[in-house]
Amino acid sequence: MQVLRVRGGARLVGEVPIVGAKNSVLKLMAASLLAPGTSTIRNLPAIADVAIMTELLQRLGCNTKICMDANGAESVAITVPERPMSEAPYELVRKIRASICVLGPLLARTGRASVAMPGGDNIGSRKLDMHFAGLERLGAALHIEHGFIVAEAATLTGATIWLDFPTVGATENITMAAVRAKGTTVVDNAAREPEIVDLCQMLVSMGAQIDGIGTSTLVIEGVSELHPTEHAAVGDRIVAGTWATAATMTRGDVTVRGGNPAHLEIALDKLSTAGADIESTPAGFRVRMHDRPRSFDVVTLPYPGFATDLQPQAIALLSVAKGSAMITENIFESRFAFCDEIARMGADVRTDGHHAVVRGRHQLSAAPVRASDIRAGVGLVLAGLVADGVTEVLDVHHIDRGYARLEEQLRSLGADVSRHDAPEFDGWL
Ligand code: EPU
Repeated sequence: MQVLRVRGGARLVGEVPIVGAKNSVLKLMAASLLAPGTSTIRNLPAIADVAIMTELLQRLGCNTKICMDANGAESVAITVPERPMSEAPYELVRKIRASICVLGPLLARTGRASVAMPGGDNIGSRKLDMHFAGLERLGAALHIEHGFIVAEAATLTGATIWLDFPTVGATENITMAAVRAKGTTVVDNAAREPEIVDLCQMLVSMGAQIDGIGTSTLVIEGVSELHPTEHAAVGDRIVAGTWATAATMTRGDVTVRGGNPAHLEIALDKLSTAGADIESTPAGFRVRMHDRPRSFDVVTLPYPGFATDLQPQAIALLSVAKGSAMITENIFESRFAFCDEIARMGADVRTDGHHAVVRGRHQLSAAPVRASDIRAGVGLVLAGLVADGVTEVLDVHHIDRGYARLEEQLRSLGADVSRHDAPEFDGWL
């Protein structure tokens, strides 16, 4: 158990580098299962989820080798056997839900996949019905057996699939199965996140035929074989957006090197509304802020809408902004659990269903608080930067799943943040 101690008051100034997106890299690693031989994924973030995904691939029979890239990021070479194993165990799947994305590629490669049901988590119920319905449309038979999703198909056949909602995970699983199906698959109302584009580009470099990449209609012509590839992951727009938010709320001046402003259009526009001066640079973008931020409303939506993964960070900013703001969360119903925690720091946040109202205060007040997921955790760290005194953020392991060495990067920008071991927490009475 570790805690981050954040002393409030610093203005963040300097430059931070952005490496590959967690929510892309994990899927790219799964996609390597589609071809025997060695695929290399570059621009990896040094986060806990990548280590768990690596372990999962090893359990499926792959060899993995982590190397250092020239830019200081890591890369992983994944050697996939002719016949990978087909069972993804619960002890790994429960640690990262993203392991559900091995379902599609394993089914396509081996005709059978058995992946532990991930179960619930702290941000919402996270159903899998559209993953299942899509794979069934391609001809797979699915059932739940002793806590495992078992999917079987002698052959997969192309089909037209309409998603009720543009879900990221289902779009990925269906696409990874369809690239090896017989005939044409059309995925309508597909998710369009930059991480989906990245996955499709890697699949194309493996020999897949996909049209409509980046649009809500993917047309996939199945091929009988794919080959290994080398692919550099797209930069992490959520980490980049987190730095942009932190710069704005601390009245800082931060250059986000490797951040693509085109992937953050609405989020950066909100920060401009708050008063930040945002400028594209050849290598990324720069955020400068001189005043107390002004409030803005947020509605989370699938890409290109405002990302739910930036919602807690936005609430942290709004809790010290001038004026009131309304936040509408449309993706994960439990994400507002964060509001109860930031309220311990004096934030004036009220929730009602999937709406929250935040009335900005001049300053927050440091308190011990608990991270319940990656983004809530980083949201509390940002709140600590604008609180008086020292905030202790407990359960840092959640933050480590998505942010590599967060405290080192914050220190390099001038913040006073340190990591400490904490005694085991034995629960609320
Ligand atoms: N949904 C269904 N049925 C399905 C699939 C999804 O009802 O079959 C619902 C979910 O319950 C949820 C909504 O659709 O309410 C969105 O789910 P989606 O499938 O789009 O999300 P995901 O693939 O489970 C990924 C990211 C999340 C990110 C969301 C939305 C990964 C590993 N996770 O989750 O990232 O919030 O897309 O952009 O890619 C994070 O990084 O902190 C994180 C939670």
